[in-house]
Amino acid sequence: MSEKLKVGILGGTGMVGQRFISLLENHPWFEVTTIAASPRSAGKTYEEAVGGRWKMDTPMPEAVKNIIVKNVNEVEAVAASVDFVFSAVDMTKEEIKKIEEDYAKTETPVVSNNSAHRWTPDVPMVVPEINPEHMKVIEFQKKRLGTTRGFVAVKPNCSIQSYAPVLTAWKEFEPYEVVATTYQAISGAGKTFKDWPEMVGNIIPYIGGEEEKSEKEPLRIWGEIKDGVIVPAASPVITCQCIRVPVLNGHTAAVFVKFKKKPTKEQLIAALENFKGVPQELDLPSAPKQFIRYLEEDNRPQVALDVNFENGMGINVGRLREDTVYDWKFVGLSHNTVRGAAGGAVLCAELLKAQGYITKK
Ligand SMILES: NC(=O)c1ccc[n+]([C@@H]2O[C@H](COP(=O)([O-])OP(=O)(O)OC[C@H]3O[C@@H](n4cnc5c(N)ncnc54)[C@H](OP(=O)(O)O)[C@@H]3O)[C@@H](O)[C@H]2O)c1
Repeated sequence: MSEKLKVGILGGTGMVGQRFISLLENHPWFEVTTIAASPRSAGKTYEEAVGGRWKMDTPMPEAVKNIIVKNVNEVEAVAASVDFVFSAVDMTKEEIKKIEEDYAKTETPVVSNNSAHRWTPDVPMVVPEINPEHMKVIEFQKKRLGTTRGFVAVKPNCSIQSYAPVLTAWKEFEPYEVVATTYQAISGAGKTFKDWPEMVGNIIPYIGGEEEKSEKEPLRIWGEIKDGVIVPAASPVITCQCIRVPVLNGHTAAVFVKFKKKPTKEQLIAALENFKGVPQELDLPSAPKQFIRYLEEDNRPQVALDVNFENGMGINVGRLREDTVYDWKFVGLSHNTVRGAAGGAVLCAELLKAQGYITKK
């Protein structure tokens, strides 16, 4: 019998769900044994349920093709067959909040890609290189839920991954004011150009709810646990504009920063290149060896050349230069459906396993 942990993917037929399935093919610790989606897909094989909707560049893994898709709403039935689940369902926020807690209450840990629980005070929202210690708040959440091993943990929004890790690496220089503009790929809306032909050659200057997430979520990541909840940091203040651009995968951010202790360019680049976290120390299976790289060329980072750095789990930075109004400006790039969605959640689950929060049932 396999020693791997049995994993269920809630919303496994969707775009993020498909990314989970692709990333978990041949994973050394986790094995996808259960897939759940809407009642429309329940009862079909995974291959039938996805039909022509497979959006990954790599083929559908053979091991999942004949899995019979379950109904996400049949919580007990899904939970009984797995050690933990990844959540990527698309329902209303209230429905997602409830169903993720329902899974947790069956003693099934939930690692979620959804935003529903990102501001639940005792739910950790984690980038494993930045705030792995926030997982400790799970003990308080379990008390609230009345569980012994069930809990919900989430990863933050895709948009912040192109600049929040960079600002973290520069913490010693005390950044206090940040202006960011993000140029976000269409896959962030679960779309390809086939589904969204109006995006060819187009820019749309609005992504619902994205600017608030981009401004506030980094502060929660930089917060600390006090009295059983995560209290967000107050600084640096961030203001953001989020723009949809005709790119399939890869969110770019153009960022201006003011520092209390203004560093030199060499200090900034060294801090990026030397930045490591627990995933690198523990050599977690999905951890990038180099979390952040600096590209010297004036025309980098480019989506076409750089988005898959470290299998989409690394952050690219370039164009670091002094600014006339702010201290420094730079351009960041990260893969929105890998580091920004499923890959970030898989790394969270690996961290949770390493910390002893996810075990065999
Ligand atoms: N795309 C991204 O990069 C990204 C990044 C961060 C967060 N997110 C969030 O992640 C979630 C999934 O996004 P996505 O792009 O993968 O969406 P998607 O492609 O539309 O997939 C949605 C999934 O949810 C299931 N579903 C839909 N309605 C349901 C219902 N009423 N009951 C149960 N299951 C239902 C679908 O099942 P059927 O196939 O049976 O309909 C499918 O498996 C969304 O909440 C989205 O906001 C997406």
